[in-house]
Amino acid sequence: MNIENMSQNNENRRREEIREKMENMANYIDSLSDDEIITMATDMLDDLGLTLDDLKNKKVVDLGSATQIIERAATIKDSGEVLSVDKRDYVLSKRPDVKRGIVADIRQGVPQIADSSIDLLIAHAGPPAISAVSRNKEDFDFSLKEVLRMLKTGGEARISPLFFYFIKEKYKRYEELHQKNPKDWTDDERKEELILVSRIEDESLKYLQGMGLNVVAGKNKRSGWSSYGIIKK
Ligand SMILES: C[S@@+](CC[C@H](N)C(=O)[O-])C[C@H]1O[C@@H](n2cnc3c(N)ncnc32)[C@H](O)[C@@H]1O
Repeated sequence: MNIENMSQNNENRRREEIREKMENMANYIDSLSDDEIITMATDMLDDLGLTLDDLKNKKVVDLGSATQIIERAATIKDSGEVLSVDKRDYVLSKRPDVKRGIVADIRQGVPQIADSSIDLLIAHAGPPAISAVSRNKEDFDFSLKEVLRMLKTGGEARISPLFFYFIKEKYKRYEELHQKNPKDWTDDERKEELILVSRIEDESLKYLQGMGLNVVAGKNKRSGWSSYGIIKK
């Protein structure tokens, strides 16, 4: 076997291991009680400055939903219609009482969802703000257009955090720091990292505003997460 084949095999094995871990996590989340799901969904929504009540009477998309926690909580509490979207079919809920989520990669579009049909799009630790989408400016720009396509006029995309990897790439020092285990950082490096993160967040926000978008920024006091609401004009 040549070196190229060996490294391809290692990469395939690594991906298989990640897939297995994610699937196990999805099975675990599926086994949680209604109360546990409501607690998890409440915390996720709180990171975004929202409550389950904010979904009431709305058509909502949860982009990068994984196991459809927000959809499950909204169904239990009868608050809003949530459509869960994730590019990985094996992270979606397998519970018989949960509607099958939509399998779609936002970088290719979500044809299952009509233009101007959504009141609120939630992306908690999902694309387009993080993940591979934000590593590539073209993927990001396309995905954001797709998000706006689905929203009604006046509808909102609430995303968190705002940390675009194509902007992070300009900060070599950030990469250098992260090559070292964060547990081994000195106090000065810890402070430096915080400054770098806030610079990347600031530049990410300016990037969105530079696209002519109406962006409202917020910060969650409990989790420290920043969240961003993009209102469709
Ligand atoms: C870090 S997880 C967050 C899951 C959940 N929203 C939460 O906060 O617990 C990110 C999710 O986004 C999904 N994802 C990543 N890139 C995506 C893309 N391009 N299109 C759709 N889903 C994507 C992943 O499969 C993963 O389930």
